[in-house]
Parts: sequence; C-alpha cells; structure tokens
Amino acid sequence: MVSTHPAGIQANGSKYILSSNQREGISPNQSLLPLSAKVNQNDNLEVGGCDVTTLVKQFGSPLYILDEESLRTACCQYRDSFKQYYKGESQVLYASKAWNCLAVCAIVASEGLGIDVASGGELYTAITAGADADKIYLHSNNKSRDELIFAVESGCTIVVDNWYELNTLVELAQENSFSSYAPYRIMLRLTPGIDCHTHDYIRTGQLDSKFGFDPNALDDVFAFAIKNQASLNCVGVHAHIGSQIFERQPHQDLAALMVEWLKKAATYGIEITELNVGGGLGIRYIESDDPPSIEEWVKPICEVVEKACGEANISLPKILCEPGRSLIGTTCVTAYSVGASKEIPGIRKYIAVDGGMSDNPRPITYESIYRAVVANKMSAPLTEQVTIAGKHCESGDILIKDAQLPSTSEGDILVVMGTGAYNYSMSSNYNRLPRPAAVLVGNGEASLILQRESYQDLIRQDCLPERLKKNE
Ligand code: LLP
Repeated sequence: MVSTHPAGIQANGSKYILSSNQREGISPNQSLLPLSAKVNQNDNLEVGGCDVTTLVKQFGSPLYILDEESLRTACCQYRDSFKQYYKGESQVLYASKAWNCLAVCAIVASEGLGIDVASGGELYTAITAGADADKIYLHSNNKSRDELIFAVESGCTIVVDNWYELNTLVELAQENSFSSYAPYRIMLRLTPGIDCHTHDYIRTGQLDSKFGFDPNALDDVFAFAIKNQASLNCVGVHAHIGSQIFERQPHQDLAALMVEWLKKAATYGIEITELNVGGGLGIRYIESDDPPSIEEWVKPICEVVEKACGEANISLPKILCEPGRSLIGTTCVTAYSVGASKEIPGIRKYIAVDGGMSDNPRPITYESIYRAVVANKMSAPLTEQVTIAGKHCESGDILIKDAQLPSTSEGDILVVMGTGAYNYSMSSNYNRLPRPAAVLVGNGEASLILQRESYQDLIRQDCLPERLKKNE
C-alpha cells in the first residue's frame, strides 16, 4: 500500500523533492527537503550534490547536513524582497539562536546579513566568524554586566530589554574604563500586546511575557533615554511576537504599531531611525504546513510602514527584521543509522536510531512533528507505519510517531527533514552522547563545519578533586 497524505502529496520519499521548475518559484521555508535535494541513480538521497549514504560513511552518524544553496537562497530572498518592496533602507539580521556556529555566521555575513545574537557566547562566535559589529544586535532579557561590557567594547548595538539594563548601561557610561565608548548604540525592546497562533512556549508578543518593556512604560522609557542621551544613543525600537507563525496579519499590525511608537519617541525629541519587526515566519515541517513565502511576508510589512509614515508625513525608518527558522530550518537534514527495532503485535513497531532528543530536543519539548525518508530507498513504496525512537533513557525520546516508511531495517539511513533551526543550537550531551558532526554541502563537495564530539570532549570540563583520585 502506498500512502497518500491528505494534503495530496504522496508521502513517498522522492515526492518531497522539488523539480527544477518548482524550485524556481519557491521559498526555501516552503520546501520539506533542501532545495538541492535529488534522488540519484542508486535511488539514494543526494543533497548539495552529495550522496547522503556516502556522507554518513565518510563523516559518521548521526550527521547534520546543511545545504549551502538553500541557505544562500533564503538570505537573498529576504534581502531582495526588502529592496524590491521598500523605498527606505533595510537590514536583514539572522537570528543566530536558530543555529549559531562559525560557518553559518560566516555564510550569512557574506550575504550581507547582520546577526542577532542572544548572549555573550553567540556574540563571540559571530565576531570570531568575521561579522561586522555594526551589523550585530545583542538580545536577551537578562544581559549580565559582563555581557553588556563585551557588547559595548565590541561596538554592536544593544537591544535593551528592561530597566536593569538601562540603568547598568548608564552606570557603565560613567565609569572611566567604558566612558570612551559612550553614547552606546541601543534599541528598545517593547512588548506589543499582539497575539499570534503558535506554541505557547514560543509566543512572545502577548502582554504576559518576560521580554521587553511593558507598553505602559513607554513614556518613562523615552523620557529616561533622552535625559541620558550622553550615555545612550537610542536609534530604534524592536519587537518580536513569536516563532513558527503562518499568519501575516500580526506582523502587519505590529509594523503599524511600531510607527506609532516612533511618533511618540519624536515627541520626546528622540529620532528613531530603525524599526526592527523581529522574526517569526514559519516553515513547512509537514505537508499540510502552508507558510507564506519570504516575499509574501516581507511585502505587506513594507507597505504598512510606508503607508503609516506617509500619512504621518515622517521619513521612512530603516526596517530591520531578524528571521532564524525561515532562513535555516529547511536547509538542513539529520541522517541517522537505524539500529534496533521492536514490534509489539497489534500495538506498534518501534525502530531506533543512533541519536534522538540530544540532537533534536524539539519533539520532546514542543511536541513538534517531523517527516523522515530512508536515504537509501527513496522510491520504495511506503509500506510501514513505524515510530522512530531515539536512543536515550527516556520514554519520551521519540523523534517521530507513526512515520510512513518503506520496509526499514538495521543499517538503513533515516533522514529527518527540517532540522536546521533549533536542533544543533538546543542540542545537549544527555546520557553523555557526543554531539554529531555537521557538514556543509554544495556542488558535490562536503566540508566539515562542526566536528563530532569525542568521549574526551565529554570530560574536557570535568574536574576530579585530588582526594577522589584512585591511588595507583
Ligand atoms: N528575534 C527574537 C528576539 C527572538 O526571540 C527570536 C526567536 C527570533 C528573532 C527568531 O525567530 P524565528 O524567525 O526563528 O521564528 N526553540 C524554539 C524557538 C524559540 C524562538 C526564540 N526566539 C523552537 O525550537 O521552536
């Protein structure tokens, strides 16, 4: 029996692959597999011109496989859509919390994108990758004094989230060691009170959120910023309403509201030149997911800002946005080797892979649903319904429930799609599993971008006090 998905797409591995015609018009965030995916003459999955089964032989398993073409295409689509639809300036930032490592930061920076970082560690990585500090924006709802100092010294823009940070920055600006950097370039993160449909854990725009200044604080915050203008150069306002969002209206409402904030700031003598609408555009994880394309997301935001500014007769601000998932989510797949299986008659069949919640914590954290294919049997009919289990000591460590697969056994290479965003970046060493390697593929070549961790890596930071050492 070949199963057909309700969305009309036959759920057979090779059907997830786009023909060259389809690739033309599509945003990477709308494709289940990376844009360069193909089935080769051995009936194996190929990404970036590399046979996935060969990659696994060469680099081991599990393996994150990142398609450079898809990532660069997504960067271009964001950049070019703003150029096409907005008369003012724009700057797309990559929300690197989705996948922060040297190679990914270097690729997006080479495409002209700036980088949104959410900690000192992400900032360090972006700078080490060669990103320009004047296109780096530091987030977090609780930046430490050390992180703020690092940000000030690096010259990046600080997206101030709360009074604690505002006060700390003003104090720093008065200290001898840091006064020469003042006024510090900051934006203000505000809570817009805009709701959207997504998982509760990844909604941030509603009033009851740990992020940003409450709208009631707006007057006080602007008054503070102007009073302390020798210390703080407030260039913009920022808001982020949530992640994996398919609706377009909330971002348009947000854009309109932000122009109101900009007008209010002007009444305090603050000239806001940057308006950052955050990230949040969703991606297709399963056939029935239907996110707007990057262009369809960007265009109405530009229109709303132009219209609102036109009506108020004010000059157009620079628009910034900071997508993470929609830039990198579908550019990556994770390849696993199939090991043990277990059939419980009349109940279910489990097949276990050599990774799980440590390399992809999203199913256990958000009940996220993924699709998989068997890389060495791409055209085989889908005859089995199986549950794909990870190898961790945790019953909830299930990567996919009720996956439709061809008959699958030990040694097959199972590929989970759409694993670029918030997989590696949220990975752990639970059960002391070494983190997988990652390769960047394109034009038939694969380059290692993250080395597989070794057992030595796992104990690198362990300390064994003298008195616990076994006397030899
Ligand atoms: N800007 C800010 C301030 C954010 O907090 C986020 C995501 C983004 C931009 C990027 O959002 P995106 O374009 O990726 O939707 N771990 C969760 C997602 C958490 C998102 C956190 N913030 C997951 O795996 O679904």
